[in-house]
Amino acid sequence: MNTPKSQISNLNFKRLRRTRMTATLRSMVRETEFSTNDFIYPLFVVPGTKVKKEVSSMPGVFQMSVDEIVKECTEVQSLEIPAVILFGIPEHKDEIGSEAFDENGGVQQAIRAIKKNVPGLFVITDVCMCEYTSHGHCGIVRGDEIVNDESLELLTKEALTHAQAGCDMVAPSDMFDGRVKAIRTILDENNFHNIPIMSYAAKYASGFYGPFREAAESTPKFGDRRSHQMDPANSNEALREVQADIEEGADIVMVKPAMPYLDIIRCVKDTFQMPTAAYNVSGEYAMVKAAAQRGWIDEERVMMEMLTGIKRAGADLILTYFAKDAARVLRK
Ligand code: PBG
Repeated sequence: MNTPKSQISNLNFKRLRRTRMTATLRSMVRETEFSTNDFIYPLFVVPGTKVKKEVSSMPGVFQMSVDEIVKECTEVQSLEIPAVILFGIPEHKDEIGSEAFDENGGVQQAIRAIKKNVPGLFVITDVCMCEYTSHGHCGIVRGDEIVNDESLELLTKEALTHAQAGCDMVAPSDMFDGRVKAIRTILDENNFHNIPIMSYAAKYASGFYGPFREAAESTPKFGDRRSHQMDPANSNEALREVQADIEEGADIVMVKPAMPYLDIIRCVKDTFQMPTAAYNVSGEYAMVKAAAQRGWIDEERVMMEMLTGIKRAGADLILTYFAKDAARVLRK
């Protein structure tokens, strides 16, 4: 305390604070930056017209009919967000999720409407059956088994109708074995060689999907997704999953969720050096929104910190419900 100042100043220690003293220098030495270019904004398509219904557990996120989706996409593009990913909620659900591969299904209509009215926006589609099946599972169910190979047939039909409607990329999110190869094959057979596949490669069986299942009305009626989605405890297995998808033809690999799996993102990026996406999922969004509504955290600050962390971990692309909010902050 009463050591003379001159003596302390003579001690030979590193002064790491020097580069933090001014905002200018802090921004000059900043290692991680992200822009709206990295964002993919998820959208939920419902039947009807003029429907815009907020998802109660995801403030600011809406289920929208095709006409409203088009308006939303115009706003997304004006915020310089390059891409959206579409999820569909069908009119009727059945055992095999028939509306998923109906050429006039909601997603297929939305693709055509966006391509016509908002040209230049990159349209990705989620390929999965859980929103479309009466039991809420991602494929065919027999007894208590979620059947792998027969489900692939449904997924390939779904992916093909998306490509035929004009989407720019398909994103299988089911986690069945062999789906990337099956989808690549059917796309190639139908001359869609140039449609890339972004696979949900390391997708965990996560409690963080809760709010999404309200948004997509896809909660399983019985059982869970642990026989196909990954155990949160595993990382070596994540690398095997990603490797399999790359070998089968994935162009971009995804880790999902993002925040509790930053180590997996880093590991996947370092191991494969592939374009890597991270899905900042519904529960991650809902937690921030809920705490901010209570005044417990600073929403903008936490949002930007979260996105920085995902980018720093190695993600090239971030699927996030924060895309519009973050775009506005980046614009300031
Ligand atoms: C469909 C799918 C899910 C999500 C994306 N695609 C839900 C699930 O696997 O149950 C979750 C996205 C989110 O929570 O934001 N299989």
